[in-house]
Amino acid sequence: MMNTTRRSFIKTSAAASLAFGATPLLAAKGKKFRTALIGSGWWGMNILREAIAAGRCQVVGLCDVYQRPLVASQDDVAGLTGDEARIYTDYEEMLRKERPEIVIVATPDHWHSLPTIAALKAGAHVFLEKPTAHTIEESRAIVNAAEAGDRVVQVGLHRRIGPHHVSGMDFLRSGKVGKIGMVRMFVTSGRGGIEKPEANSDVPKGMDWNRWCGPAPSRPFNSKIAPGRWRNFLDYANGTLGDWGVHWLDQVLWWTDEKYPKAVYSTGGRPISGPVVNDGKQQTTDAPDTQVATYEFESFTAVWEHRRYAGTGSEQHPFGAYFYGTEGVFHMGWRDGWTFYPSNKKATPVHEDPRFDNVKDGHNIPPLWLDFLDAIDRKRKPVAEIEASHRSSVLPMLGMMSYKLGRSIRWDGKLEKVLGDDEANGLLRREFRAPWVYPSA
Ligand SMILES: NC(=O)c1ccc[n+]([C@@H]2O[C@H](COP(=O)([O-])OP(=O)(O)OC[C@H]3O[C@@H](n4cnc5c(N)ncnc54)[C@H](O)[C@@H]3O)[C@@H](O)[C@H]2O)c1
Repeated sequence: MMNTTRRSFIKTSAAASLAFGATPLLAAKGKKFRTALIGSGWWGMNILREAIAAGRCQVVGLCDVYQRPLVASQDDVAGLTGDEARIYTDYEEMLRKERPEIVIVATPDHWHSLPTIAALKAGAHVFLEKPTAHTIEESRAIVNAAEAGDRVVQVGLHRRIGPHHVSGMDFLRSGKVGKIGMVRMFVTSGRGGIEKPEANSDVPKGMDWNRWCGPAPSRPFNSKIAPGRWRNFLDYANGTLGDWGVHWLDQVLWWTDEKYPKAVYSTGGRPISGPVVNDGKQQTTDAPDTQVATYEFESFTAVWEHRRYAGTGSEQHPFGAYFYGTEGVFHMGWRDGWTFYPSNKKATPVHEDPRFDNVKDGHNIPPLWLDFLDAIDRKRKPVAEIEASHRSSVLPMLGMMSYKLGRSIRWDGKLEKVLGDDEANGLLRREFRAPWVYPSA
């Protein structure tokens, strides 16, 4: 089955391979872009440091709703570049005053769509962190804004450019694994145990909690949520499936010719963490500690599973995706590279060690940034372009919809509608808290 997705994928794949040869050298030269960061926390600064190291950004603005990381990021930028980047708490004001050509969006997931669309409308190219958004129609609105503005959007799905992922994909496509009927993706980590609620507390000095919650429901401040711990609060993110699952589901959509599943079913719960608490005085997280999501494609079945406990290291691989084929099992991993275990007992397993060229922490941000610059220079799609990244980000969102509904959903991926289920279609979007307005797709 060779369709247009496959053809455009091959183009982007070729660009990805280039990124380890000629592209970095080319992308490392050229004009400097007026660059701004929205969300100057852990990951935003990680990206910005790599952008600075690549040598083509003049940092003109930094935006955060919390003064501590904001001021720290201003000091960091001054130390690294000598640039006097101005700081903002309102990204709209920053976009208006600084007119950046590139904007990095590294806010929590509930705050991805509005700043990204605003930056695109202001004429900037955007490096957007994964997943693209919190709900499906927001994510679609980003794709539409990128198309309308003819801007480059690179999403932080950095495994699409990781050298061992690229070579692993080549191996998978070579046919050596045979016909693949099933893919199983998984993350097992942590020790687990009953989750103790934490008392709500005063908002940290310098944090605008109302803006932090923004379009999502406002909850009392709790240090379990911020900074950095929002991933397992379903108001702001989609739990482990949204955070980790999107990387591995993206590998599946990268591999297959198919664009979307036709049905999704997810189950799970909190058998280890225990009940959700949010009683006005104290809170626990509310995401599942155990989850299985099954994605039924035309020609194969993909299953996601996570456990946030029993991460003992006793299993062969703690993360990744097993592709099960008629010739054997292929494991695409992270810090353990990839391995093919042939069905033929006499054949030798094939293994490639992880490769993180010029990458310190196992996240392939430096090559992803160079690919982004090269895409802007050459007016081409980057490796983690927005339409494909949107489709990958939709998969965890569908999984969470099924999990919340407690039933399977049939998905029309072309129309981006659930078939015959109005309640499920209601979850494709959500009410935004005023004054913020849900973006129209
Ligand atoms: N690609 C990857 O492998 C990878 C790795 C880590 C994180 N991430 C992504 O990066 C993003 C940020 O994650 P993090 O761990 O740095 O979170 P974080 O909470 O540490 O940082 C987010 C920052 O955004 C700020 N913020 C919140 N609302 C804002 C608003 N309206 N305007 C400006 N700033 C606002 C917060 O105050 C915080 O400083 C997430 O989307 C996450 O999924 C991706």
